[in-house]
Parts: sequence; C-alpha cells; structure tokens
Amino acid sequence: MKKTILILALAAVLAAACSGPVSPQDKLTANDKKINELIAQMTLEEKVNMLHSKTNMSSAGVERLGIADMNYADGPFGIREEGVPNGFQSAGWTLDSATYFPTGSALAATWSEELAYKYGTGMGKEARLRGKDVILGPAVNIQRLPVGGRTYEYLSEDPILSAALSLEYTKGVQDQGTAVCIKHFAVNNQETNRGSVNAILSERTLREIYLKPFERAIIEGGAMSVMPAYNKVNGDYCSENEHLLNEILRGEWGFKGFTVSDWGGTHSTMGAMLHGLNVQMTGSNYLGQPVIDSIKAGKLTEDLVDEKVRQILRVRFAIEPVPADVANTVMTSQPESQDIARQVAEKSIVLLKNEGKVLPISKDVKTIAVIGQNAVLKTQSGGMGAGVKALYEVTPLAGIEKRAAQAGVEVSYAPGYKNFPGRRWGRGPAAPETNPLVASAIDEPADPFLMSEACEAAANADLVIFFGGTNKSIETEGSDRQNMDLPCGQNELVKALKAVNPNLVTVLISGGPTDLCELEPVSPAIVQGWWNGTEGGTALAEVLFGDIAPSGKLPFTFPAKLEDSPAYAMGNFPAKNAGGDLFSLMYRPDVMKMTREERQKLIDSMPKPESHYTEEFYVGYRWFDTRQVKPMYAFGHGLSYVEFDYEDMKATAGKDAVKVTFQLENEGSMPADEVVQLYVHRVDSQVEWPAKELKAFQRVSLNAGETKTVTLEIPFKDLRYWNEATNAWDLEHGKLQLLLGSASDDIRETAEVTI
Ligand code: BGC
Repeated sequence: MKKTILILALAAVLAAACSGPVSPQDKLTANDKKINELIAQMTLEEKVNMLHSKTNMSSAGVERLGIADMNYADGPFGIREEGVPNGFQSAGWTLDSATYFPTGSALAATWSEELAYKYGTGMGKEARLRGKDVILGPAVNIQRLPVGGRTYEYLSEDPILSAALSLEYTKGVQDQGTAVCIKHFAVNNQETNRGSVNAILSERTLREIYLKPFERAIIEGGAMSVMPAYNKVNGDYCSENEHLLNEILRGEWGFKGFTVSDWGGTHSTMGAMLHGLNVQMTGSNYLGQPVIDSIKAGKLTEDLVDEKVRQILRVRFAIEPVPADVANTVMTSQPESQDIARQVAEKSIVLLKNEGKVLPISKDVKTIAVIGQNAVLKTQSGGMGAGVKALYEVTPLAGIEKRAAQAGVEVSYAPGYKNFPGRRWGRGPAAPETNPLVASAIDEPADPFLMSEACEAAANADLVIFFGGTNKSIETEGSDRQNMDLPCGQNELVKALKAVNPNLVTVLISGGPTDLCELEPVSPAIVQGWWNGTEGGTALAEVLFGDIAPSGKLPFTFPAKLEDSPAYAMGNFPAKNAGGDLFSLMYRPDVMKMTREERQKLIDSMPKPESHYTEEFYVGYRWFDTRQVKPMYAFGHGLSYVEFDYEDMKATAGKDAVKVTFQLENEGSMPADEVVQLYVHRVDSQVEWPAKELKAFQRVSLNAGETKTVTLEIPFKDLRYWNEATNAWDLEHGKLQLLLGSASDDIRETAEVTI
C-alpha cells in the first residue's frame, strides 16, 4: 500500500515537472473536485435552472448551496446602465453612470497592446463596482464590410491586429477579477439578417481570418466565457455548431469555461445541449423544462447537464461574487478609468491628410468657426447593446472651446446640417417634424437656411473646422448602412464652406469609413476623430492645437468607392435573397403586432438568407493590394506632425521566429509616436497568398530628434496557413520578403529571409 502511494506521488511530481506551466484555460479546472462535490448535492431542477436566464442580465446560481447568480453587463466599451430585471429599459439608478471608453475601431486605431490592456482594466474594475461578474465583450469580429452596423464595435479588418488587442483587453479585464464573454463567435460580420443568415466560407478563411481574434484571447488570455453569435456558420447556428463550439473551441483550443447564447440566439434544446451551449439568454423555452423532459424521455443524459454546470461553476469559482452590500455603493465611473479613456482617445485620432500643414492650428488663428452637428452630438448612447450612460462626455465643441479659451482664440458654432436620427425598433422612422435640426431621410439635401448660417460663420473666421461623418443611429447594431455616403447634404455644405473660406479642416466623427470622394478634394486637412469616449473632445482639441502629435493609424481600409471593397466587388453583399430574419422584420410595425407563432410562420415562409465569402481571405487591404485597387486611404495609414526616418533594417530567420531590427528616428521638433508595421510578401510560393499580410507591429514613442533601435518578431506559427488537404496548420518553407513601413502603402525598407 505504502509503496503504491509512493509511486503515485512520484508519478504526480514527474508529471507536473514535465507538463510545464499550467495553461490559462487549465487554471480554470483548479476547483473541479469541490465543484463535483457540489454538483453531487444538486437536484436536476437546480442544475437545469443554471442553464438559462434568470433575469435579462443574469443566470441563476443555487442559493441553498451558497452558489451566487452570475451577473452580466454589456458591453464592449462601457458598463451599461442597470436595466429592469426583464428588459433593457433603464432601472433609473443614480450610481450606474459609467466611463464611456472609445469604441472598438478607435481602440484599434491606437495599435497599442498596452492601451488595450489598460482599457480592459478600466472595464473590469467598473464591472466589479457594479457587482457584475461577466462583461459581454470584447467584440472582436473582423470588419468585413465597411458599412457593417457593428464595424465600429469591432476592432479591425486584420486578424493579427485584432487578435493582439483582443488578447490584451481580455487579460486586462480578467486581471481585475471580472470574466470576459468574448463575442460574437463567429463570422458575425453583417447585421442584415443577422438572426438567420448562413455564412458560408472555406475552412482556411475561417481559421486564418475570422477565428484569430478569438483564438489568442482564449488560448493565451484564458477568456472564461464565449458568446456564440446569432448567425449560422456553414449550415448550423453558432449556438449549436459542433465544429465551432465542440471541435475547435473546446477540442482544439482547450476552452474550459462556458458559452452564453446571444440574446434570443438559442434555437433548439437538442442542438444547444449536444453541440456546445451552456446558457440560453434569454428565456428558458429551450434550456429549461425541455431539458428535464428530454432526460426523462432518455434523449439526453444527466451527465451532460453535469458537464455544463461544471463549466459554469469553474467561472463562478474563478470570479469572486461582489457582496450585495459592497456593489453599487459608489459611482461606476472612476477618475482612473476616465484617464485611461483619455489616453486611448489621444492615441487613436488619425490624421488622414494635411496639405499645406493646416494642422496643428497656427498661432495666427484668432477665430475658429466650428460647423456641423457632429461637433455637439453625444455619442455615448445609441447603437443598442453598445450604448453607455456616461458620467460625462466632452463633446468635440466643448473640448475645442476649452482649449481655445486658454489660447485666447474665439470660437463660433453653427449646426450646418440636419441630423438623421435613424430607425427605431418597431416604430418606423423617428418623427422629425417638430425639430428643424432633425432630418426625415438620410439622403435629405442640405438645408438652405442652415447652410447659409454656417457659411456666414465660416466667412468671418480665420479657420473653419467642419465636423462630418455619421452617428450612432446610422451605424448601429441591428442594421447595416446602405452605403458609405455622408448624410444630410454634408458634401454640398463642405463645398460651400470651402468657397467662402479655404482654410478648412474636416473632422470625421464616425465608427466606420465614409465615402470621401467629394469631400477630399475640397478639404486640405482631414482627421478621423471616431466615437472617442468620455474624454473624446479633450483629446481631439489636444491634437488639433498641436499639444500632442496625432499617432492613430487606420485599422481598416477607407475604400474610394464601396463597390471596390471585396464583398461588394465579388457580388457577395448585399445578398440577393435577403429577408426571413426576425431582426430585420422588427422594423415593420405590422410584424411587431404579431404573436410569436405568427412571426415564426412568416419567417419560415421567406427565403433563407445566405452570405457567401467567396472573396476568401482577401479581406480589406489583402484584397486592395492583391487586386491593385487604390483605396482612398490605406490600412495602417495615419500622418503625424513630424517625419520619421527608417534606417538600417536587418532581418534574420531563427529556429522558430523571424527577427527584424532597425533604427527609427523622430526627425521633428516635438515628441511623437510612430506605429511601425511589418508585412510579409511570399516569394515564389506554391500556396496562394495575398500580396502582403501584416505580421508584426509596435507603437514607439520618441522625443524630438531621438533615435531608437526597434526589434520586431514574427513567430513561425503566425506564418502558417491552414492546409485544407491535411486539415491542419502548415508552414510553407521558402523565401519571404519583409516589408517594413509606416502604413500598408508606405513601405520604407525591405529585406529577404528564407525559412
Ligand atoms: C447583442 C449582444 C449584446 C446582447 C445583450 C445582443 O443584441 O448582439 O452583443 O451583448 O444583445 O445586450
């Protein structure tokens, strides 16, 4: 007996020594023994009660056994205000105003892993102040469509950039003792028919592009929960997709936590139970009583229920519940997070164009005319799940006024154009008739009165700052934009402004790209200002007045024309057989009056929407570069107030990584950051590749005149492709051309290595 114990103990020591450090996912299993003991004490009803919503934003624990409920909070860029238990309507609390962080594409425009981590810490801390265990974010799908309703929530069109930021965001949140629920898994790239569309794509495209931002956050970041998306992927709903949830997520990536369907995105009892879903949100019609009935009928086993409960409890044990008398005792938004929001905003602003060095604002400027409603509209709410009730929000105009006052500069303001408030769920277009500043149609022409008022202000100023772009009713969850056009006659207005005062700067306030074909020729300077959070206006003023140099870089391509972008050029979007989707029908007042059964009957009778991804991995710049289509502004583009010099590039291929070093100099007279980008082009390859792909990047801060040695590494694993013949990752050996530069279309140095 003694001998056996000794051998077993020795074997355990040896196994621990050989197995190396425990993976972030395996750490979740630390309490499995205790968890199994608890499960053994639970009734079937108690267990099944954990598999569906309790309220709109919670799922149940087991009070009798001291297991707390799991509390969820939207969303990716701010802890959403408290809703009533059974819906999204405000609960009317006073301490739940949160920090509004810059939206997804703005965070991505920083190209900063450090800031993504800090952002996560801010979110994680504020979640705990509110007593929330799980944040429904980050939202990390690839920006496939420039017009996608959630393009602004997502990070980038590039998987390497998205994955790096998604990983750091995840670590930042979870290091605060809050779990992420990374979403929307997977291939959720359009809002049109999002509840039923079947995304059809090749395994290589799926693996190399669309899964990457999830993969790193789960394997390296230990993301504790995952939200399967609304759509189908290759035939099956994501909430019951064996390939995605059981084979890849749990099988290959070793995920040990739990999955939560998107709200209303569970579709069956057997599908969800057998193919990887843990919690139905919201409702219990699939993962409630029907599970108990199915077990009694011998169609499902109680072991399967135990397994699902174990996965939920692993997260419950990893996340300490916030005691009820501690939660919600102070304001959610805290100065520390507001400061992070400002830092992100400062580094996200992209200077797209600066002809004649109109920016930074010259000391000679004594009067500024700020034109355009986007200078005053708050962007914290709207966009549905992604809205935030912010404690405060510095609008662009407020930021400029404050900074201008310090410089003794006078600021005037005119709205310039009407604002389109978008569609409202189930109620049709919002009524414009009572407000002269509200448009009834997105393409309503410029308003003559507003235009002449704006031109008068512009004519009397030394400098005009025109605020254009979209708003959060135009770019929103639930629908995609019809086009990239600037709304409400903005083009007409900007031309008129230019005619009266050529000293003009345009600031675009939007989450995704817009069509600049008419605006670009008349605007000597253009800035992408994003929906930039609580301190957005402060950061923008700092950049415009030259207190800091702009350093954001585009995380997506700005196509010259929408038709140039890959999904459009290939005829894949918009799909011809649209329809048949509850979310799109919800805009129709007649459908809103129907019963659930009537609605389902209508949907069943409609064509089944499909979205074909035949552009394959040629997403964003991969397409534009390979097809040699010139965009308006390329992926990675962003100017500074200084010039950077790249010298002395050296590249070596080691055993498992390519290493590049070079000298980077700030040739200007102020401190500035540069985001250096390393792309790979394959030489004489047998495998099909895009013209080039981003493989490494770094944000580097340099004082005026400073030079730094920069090192970038590309692990071989990031150079692999998904071999469809062997159904596995493969490394193609051969020559690589390494392209080092400041943007995808601004390559400064090249080198070649053989791997
Ligand atoms: C969205 C999710 C969100 C959920 C809860 C859904 O409509 O797709 O991203 O987390 O609602 O608000």
